[in-house]
Amino acid sequence: MNYNNIDFNYKTILITGGAGFIGSNLAFYFQENFPNAHIVIFDCFRNEGLFSNGNPKSYGHYKNLIGFKGDVICGNLNSKIDLSKLNQYKFNFIFHQAAISDTRVYDQEVIFQTNVNSFYDLLEIAKKDNAVMVYASSAATYGNLPAPQTVGKESPENPYGFSKLLMDQIANRYSLENPDMTIVGLRFFNVYGNREFYKAKTSSMVIQLGHQILNEDNPRLFENSDQIYRDFIFIADVVQANIKACSPIKNGTYNIGTSIPRSFKDIADILQKELGTNLNIDYFPNPYSGYQCNTKADITSSLKYIGFNPSFSLEDGIKAYIPEIKKLYGEKYS
Ligand SMILES: NC(=O)c1ccc[n+]([C@@H]2O[C@H](COP(=O)([O-])OP(=O)(O)OC[C@H]3O[C@@H](n4cnc5c(N)ncnc54)[C@H](O)[C@@H]3O)[C@@H](O)[C@H]2O)c1
Repeated sequence: MNYNNIDFNYKTILITGGAGFIGSNLAFYFQENFPNAHIVIFDCFRNEGLFSNGNPKSYGHYKNLIGFKGDVICGNLNSKIDLSKLNQYKFNFIFHQAAISDTRVYDQEVIFQTNVNSFYDLLEIAKKDNAVMVYASSAATYGNLPAPQTVGKESPENPYGFSKLLMDQIANRYSLENPDMTIVGLRFFNVYGNREFYKAKTSSMVIQLGHQILNEDNPRLFENSDQIYRDFIFIADVVQANIKACSPIKNGTYNIGTSIPRSFKDIADILQKELGTNLNIDYFPNPYSGYQCNTKADITSSLKYIGFNPSFSLEDGIKAYIPEIKKLYGEKYS
């Protein structure tokens, strides 16, 4: 599947966070569609460390990369020595996905060190190599602002969201100072799809509810889940966005969602239809404050300036995802 006219064959492509959900999907996209591309993954992978919320410190997992034939460098964004291993390459494209992706980590020092400081280093590599830089921002930059969320009006509610907003501001300044560079930030909304399983409790509700249903447990949702609307975007459309972002009409930060908000109850209903069950839903109180209850990506500028045009409805995305949900049922995260 080609999303634009760029031939990535014989190009050197860095994917940071390439052992994670979105990064590994990008790696396989290039491997399958451009067999002569030289793909380099940089990821610290998962170790045995946990944050104080009990979740792993990073989610990169070797199982996401089984079948991948490119280079893999196990390295930490916070280590200049590890990053210097990238100097042996001259990159044409950089897809910077590595980050602490867990929105419920509140150790501010480690979040800003990991997500923000390293961004300067990667921008310097992009500048030195004259590489296109596409990086992951997030809808968490909007916090609880009312829908539709539009670039330029942000109000992050957690350190993670603020770290992504800082990245957008750095990218904006870097673009102004280096007008010849291509730098594009993609604010992903709620992404779901293949290779997210190893994000464990931070994976999407699509796979979590899918596995509850396969276990014949009643799907568990927060109270009022029929009124909590999110913009859920399928991984194939996120890959599309990354590829299209390589040839933007102009640098900038762009929302990546469907612009069609759906409820968590819709997810449970679609899964039940696909899996042929009719279980009751168990509702329980939402323990989280600062919970995003209404997201809808304004994608007007995404269409206009990078040509992003999502093609998967929630029904289509879940249908395409069902075989993997079934395959991973019963697997362990570790
Ligand atoms: N999945 C979503 O719904 C979503 C939404 C908005 C933004 N994002 C952003 O998209 C990007 C990819 O997200 P994802 O869902 O694939 O998450 P993920 O956690 O699966 O991937 C992130 C990868 O970064 C690696 N990593 C973490 N800390 C690192 C470090 N210090 N050094 C090197 N590697 C490190 C992890 O091992 C992991 O493989 C992230 O930047 C995330 O913040 C994701």
